[in-house]
This record gives sequence, structure tokens and C-alpha cells, in this order.
Amino acid sequence: MKIETFALERWMTTYELTARYDITESGIAPMTVAEVIGLAPADEREELLARVLGTRLGYSEAPGSHTLRSLLAETYEETGPEHVLVTTGAIEANFLAFNVLLEPGDHVVAVAPAYQQLHSVPRAIGCDVSLWRLRPEDGFRYDLDELERLLTPRTRMIVVNTPHNPTGTVLSDDELRRIYRLAEERGAWLLCDEAYRWLDVPGGEPLAQPVRNLGPRAISVGTFSKPFGLPGLRTGWLAAPADVIAACWAMRDYVSLSPGGLNDLLASVALVHRDQVIARNRGIVAANLAAADAWFNEHADVVSWQPPRGGLLAMVRYALDLESRDLADRLASQYGVMLAPGSAFGYEGYLRLGVGAVPETFAGGLARTAECLADLRAGRATPAGSLTAAGA
Ligand SMILES: Cc1ncc(COP(=O)(O)O)c(C=O)c1O
Repeated sequence: MKIETFALERWMTTYELTARYDITESGIAPMTVAEVIGLAPADEREELLARVLGTRLGYSEAPGSHTLRSLLAETYEETGPEHVLVTTGAIEANFLAFNVLLEPGDHVVAVAPAYQQLHSVPRAIGCDVSLWRLRPEDGFRYDLDELERLLTPRTRMIVVNTPHNPTGTVLSDDELRRIYRLAEERGAWLLCDEAYRWLDVPGGEPLAQPVRNLGPRAISVGTFSKPFGLPGLRTGWLAAPADVIAACWAMRDYVSLSPGGLNDLLASVALVHRDQVIARNRGIVAANLAAADAWFNEHADVVSWQPPRGGLLAMVRYALDLESRDLADRLASQYGVMLAPGSAFGYEGYLRLGVGAVPETFAGGLARTAECLADLRAGRATPAGSLTAAGA
């Protein structure tokens, strides 16, 4: 398989270990193992810790433990453990679903911009991919009439992502039902990347139910990375009809075989106590949204945004005559701030902001960004790429 370079990942890896203020991250501040164990009631923690420490590190149940699959299944309607496959992150879930359900020459409609995998993998398979674009001039809205125009009798899959990375746009229940009907009428699949499930935001919109509940042509992809702050577990899942799950499992035998048993156990603990995790997330996001609101008001002459309607991401528009890649490199290398360039998403003149960072980091990153913008406007800027101690 020949596949395009994952452009954003390459940019992120250039700076993510050195930049002090990562405020472009797509997830919520990660939890420690101790915090996950601390989710359990006090009188159960010791036993849980003993279970964690006593976990034998052999190969684990290949489709994911029955416990974790059952817990995940309960979060959908009419779904049992046989409808769930635990995967190595949402990234593997998407990869398996595309490879199992798509053939070279199939027509696919995929939201754009998007987590790049959602286009690049279908393209690498040899599919003809039409991009369903969210445009700044439309307020980054999903235009369902445009989707209808993109569909053809050959369309085999519609790929959406809600809440959306990188704009924070959401699809409502009604919109998802309409998309599901459009897919079903054509015998196509609807794959919804629900990596931001459970991440509704203050002042945003209520989140739609997962598409798995809509019918047998729908596939939901989920993850512990974003809503649980556990990307290091590399644990995600697919919820789909049993035959799709079986086929994805069969392909997984060649990719990663099985989830790590320790990760599976910690994921189950987090899922059981997800109300606490959601409350933690809300606290972080509320603090960051308040800081962002004040910051955008203070610097309204140079930056503006539309806060996320759901999820953790939004695009920041800046009024400077500078390409976003140049600005992003300058911010990262000289000011220690990571804000991904809009050009990575086809949005020149924008940067991607994530509201999931630790609030002190978030506030620090905004303050340094303001310094950078002020320096640029005052003509005090040095060429992008020159490293200073402040950038470390
Ligand atoms: C929309 C979307 N889907 C999938 C992923 C992959 O997540 P995971 O860590 O679960 O593989 C990401 C990660 O940024 C994402 O933003």
C-alpha cells in the first residue's frame, strides 16, 4: 500500500517534545495511572491496584476483553459485545473498517478537512474520494445539500466526524439521520468518527447519539484518547454489525493482533467511572474557554474565532500578512507555543487551537502567542526557525 505522508503528524513531532505550551493538542490533558485508579471508590482502590500490578502480561483476548466490550456495548442501543471490537486507538478502528469495507474504484465521500487518515486510507486503497468541505465562509458548517450533490450510485461509504477535528462543528441528531438515510438508500455505509464523543462543551450544542443507534449500515468509531485523556492506552473501538466486526477482527490478526491487557483493564475502569472523567474534562474546558474568551476580546484587532460547538478544537483567524506555516513555526521555535498551521487543513490564515490543555499551560500559551503577535506587528520579529531558550 502506498500512502500519503500524514502531514500534521510530521509537523507535531517536530515540536511536541520541546515546545512548552502545546495548545493545539487534539485531546484533553492526559491522566496518570494513579488518577485512573483513583477514580474507583476509596475502599476498592487497593484491590484494583493489586489487580493492575498482578496483570499477567501475556497475550490478551484478541477482540478486547469481554468486560470492556460489554461495557462499551452498553453505551449503544441494541448492541452486545459481539458488535464491538477493541482496537489500537480510533486510528486502527478506522483503518480496519476502510480496508474491510472498501474496494479499489469505490466512491467515498469524506468530510474535509479531517483527521487526514479519513481521506488518505480510502485513497491508498484506490477509492475515488470526493471531499465534502467545511468552508470558513459558511461558518465551517456541514452543508447537507452539498453532500447530496456529491453522492453517486457508486458511493460505497460516507465518512463523517462529529464533533469535528479541527473546527469544533457538530452534526445534530436530525442531520445524522438524514445522512444515514442517504447512505442506506444507496446501500452505502456511514462511518462516523466519534473520537470526540462525550465531549460536549459549555455554550456549545448537545451532542447527537452515536450513529451505531441509527441502523445496520452505520459504524461508530470511538476512543479512550480524547474524552478520557488516555491516549497512551492506545485503546479505541468499533461498534458495528457482527459480520463487520468479525471481518475487522480477522484483518486485525495481521496488524496488531490484540489490545494490551493492562490497557484494556485501565480503559474498563475509566469507562465505568466516566461521569467523574466527564466532570474533570468539563472543568478543564470551562477554565480554558473563559481564558480564551477574555484573550480574544483583548486581542480582537488581530485574532478571532468561533468557539467549539462540541469537542476540543477550533480555528483561530489572524489578521497578519504571514502564511500559517511560517507563523506556526515561529510560535513553536521562538515562543514555545504549538498552534498547528491552518494550511495543514486547507485553511490558510488560521491556526488550530485546542481547549483541552492544562489551564496553566493554556493561559501561558495564549500569553506567549499575544507576545509573538505584538512583536510581529511592531516589526520586532526574527526569522522563523531561530531557536531561543524561551522556545524550549
Ligand atoms: C478525529 C480523530 N479520529 C481519530 C483519531 C485517532 O485517535 P486515537 O488516539 O484513538 O488513535 C484522532 C486523533 O487525533 C482524531 O482527531
